[in-house]
Amino acid sequence: MRVGVMASGRGSNFQALIDAAESGETPDVELVHLIVNKKGAYAIQRAKKHGIEHTLITSDDKTRREFDQDVLGLLKKQNIEVIVLAGFMRILTPEFIDAYRNRILNIHPSLLPSFPGAHAHRDAIKYGVKVSGCTAHLVDEGIDSGPIIMQTPVTVSEEETEESLANKILEYEHQMLPKALQLLCSGKIIVNGRHIEIKSD
Ligand code: GAR
Repeated sequence: MRVGVMASGRGSNFQALIDAAESGETPDVELVHLIVNKKGAYAIQRAKKHGIEHTLITSDDKTRREFDQDVLGLLKKQNIEVIVLAGFMRILTPEFIDAYRNRILNIHPSLLPSFPGAHAHRDAIKYGVKVSGCTAHLVDEGIDSGPIIMQTPVTVSEEETEESLANKILEYEHQMLPKALQLLCSGKIIVNGRHIEIKSD
């Protein structure tokens, strides 16, 4: 499947996808294009280093609809079949979601439905949970609310900080995201409403 990745910053999850593709772990994934919405996003350097085409489409100077239509135009032109949101910190319009229904994968650093949104680690620590983690899910019109593909729990220690928790969870995100993408691209994911069934070999 031709995959487009969208990122806003560092891109370590994008790197995990690159590494998995290069090591043969994701045979049904072709990383075709990176789209970033923030100038200076480090993800761009990763794309350059690994010979993946990239485009900067800035979002600050556009309406939500304008931005999404620009991105959609590019994705269609590139015949992108599946999209990964890898640290993409922006909500997409219903039109965008609909154009790629059940073909947009997101990685989120909490055990959804707990702590959706942009400050998952901070919110988890503030709440006082003993376990958090990460979730790979399909994207729907809500905020981090789509059907769940996989989750990994991570223990939250007494002295946890936002940074230490983020680092701890990130390790599992990097393992989980390529696996979830391979499942999606190999047609092993069946969506029944909120429930996802993973076909065995
Ligand atoms: C990751 O922890 C990802 O789960 C999170 O942003 C980070 C991006 O890191 N995404 C969200 O919070 C989305 N709501 P990265 O740029 O190094 O992949």
